[in-house]
Amino acid sequence: MAVTADIGLIGLGTMGSALALNIAENAGPIAVWNRTTATTRAFHAEAGALAANITPCETLEALVAAIRPPRAIILMVPAGQPVDDQLAALAPYLSADDLVIDAGNANFHDTNRRARAGLPFRFLGMGVSGGEDGARHGPAIMGGGDKPDWDRIAPILTAIAASYQGAPCADWMGPEGAGHFVKTVHNGIEYADMQMIAEVYGLMRDGLGLHAPAIAEAFGQWNTGPLQSYLIEISAQVAAATDPLTGAAMLDVILDKAGQKGTGRWTAIEAQHLSAPIPVIEAAVAARNMSARLDERVAGEALFGPAPQAVTEGLGLPDLHDALLAGKILCYAQGFSMTAAAGPAFGWDLQLPSIARVWRAGCIIRSSLLDAMAQALAEDPARSLMLAPTFAAELQRCVPSLRRVVSVAALQGHSVPALSAGLAWFDAMRTRRGTANMIQAQRDFFGAHGFDRLDGADVHHGPWGESA
Ligand code: 6PG
Repeated sequence: MAVTADIGLIGLGTMGSALALNIAENAGPIAVWNRTTATTRAFHAEAGALAANITPCETLEALVAAIRPPRAIILMVPAGQPVDDQLAALAPYLSADDLVIDAGNANFHDTNRRARAGLPFRFLGMGVSGGEDGARHGPAIMGGGDKPDWDRIAPILTAIAASYQGAPCADWMGPEGAGHFVKTVHNGIEYADMQMIAEVYGLMRDGLGLHAPAIAEAFGQWNTGPLQSYLIEISAQVAAATDPLTGAAMLDVILDKAGQKGTGRWTAIEAQHLSAPIPVIEAAVAARNMSARLDERVAGEALFGPAPQAVTEGLGLPDLHDALLAGKILCYAQGFSMTAAAGPAFGWDLQLPSIARVWRAGCIIRSSLLDAMAQALAEDPARSLMLAPTFAAELQRCVPSLRRVVSVAALQGHSVPALSAGLAWFDAMRTRRGTANMIQAQRDFFGAHGFDRLDGADVHHGPWGESA
């Protein structure tokens, strides 16, 4: 079989198909293979003018033969065992300098394991964000593995990636699972952004009594200011949509149980391992789990009385806007600070400004704030975003609103776990004299764990024996 392609792709599901078309359109000829041959044929048949740039292959052997050596093959198969199975299936056909790129939502620990496994070919792990539309027209790409392997494939990846003011949103994040790690943090932030928007939506709906069209209008308007982002934009769109079945607002007929594939959970788990506080993201993950427990919520409402009360005074849309902005800044500060902790823990030189730059376009959390974040992180990557002058000034302005929103929500019975977690974190991180002296005294009391003293004196245990 003749060599027809610069690159191959395995797995023609939604994301794989979109990525293959993107490559065919913007990067060059591609060969594709899917486990089910009918899917490969249908994909090619529906590719329109791009079909000429696509070689549909019916066996793995044919796929490999169609790609110009040294080969590059993108895997877009479900994360987990299917990736290991596919790597094993490819091994007999590949040479040592062929390169396989796992572009699925892999757990970065799996990518670390694969990178260290001594595979008989080159291997990269690559986070791809932007959903189906992003994959088709320009995703954000977070690569991990050996830098020369990234450099080899970078021309194709930068050609298909989104770009921000001409700069491609595709970059190498570091060795091994660094790319998938950064994608994991992205998804944790994605969960938190979505949850905070949902909390504010709840306050609009149940607190201010706004109907979906008014909510759509508010989000639409917010999307023209500092909250401008893909997630606010689509929130306006979903709030404006009408259910074709009933004519009701689409949002009003959707069951309030959120699904998840688990990448947000990985962020929370990893943050715990790193001792990195990311309470907004953790709250967002917990909120998805709470949403799933519908039966318990029904029983809870039956026992404790009706759901939230209307907000009668003291809170309006400008407060909700500013609370969301403060929450968002605090959440990103946590996400970047977790990323900063991961570098030394894994031996990776993670470049925080590059990460922020890659997230400026193409990905689900793209927003106008990310360019300013990239600049603040470039000024001083070791400084919390909360302390960077631009964001500190914004927090000074917006935290009073966050405080009002969280207080009113608590008084009226609205559940706002992510916004509350943001505020609690802010208050903890701006308090010189906290309360952990009590914890240290307790630990010393029951376990003789010792403590440091404010006055520096060389006495590290309390007089508990005498006073107890
Ligand atoms: C993206 C998304 C995408 C997807 C995940 C998370 O960046 O394009 O993060 O990867 O939305 O599957 O979805 P869950 O909400 O199901 O965990």
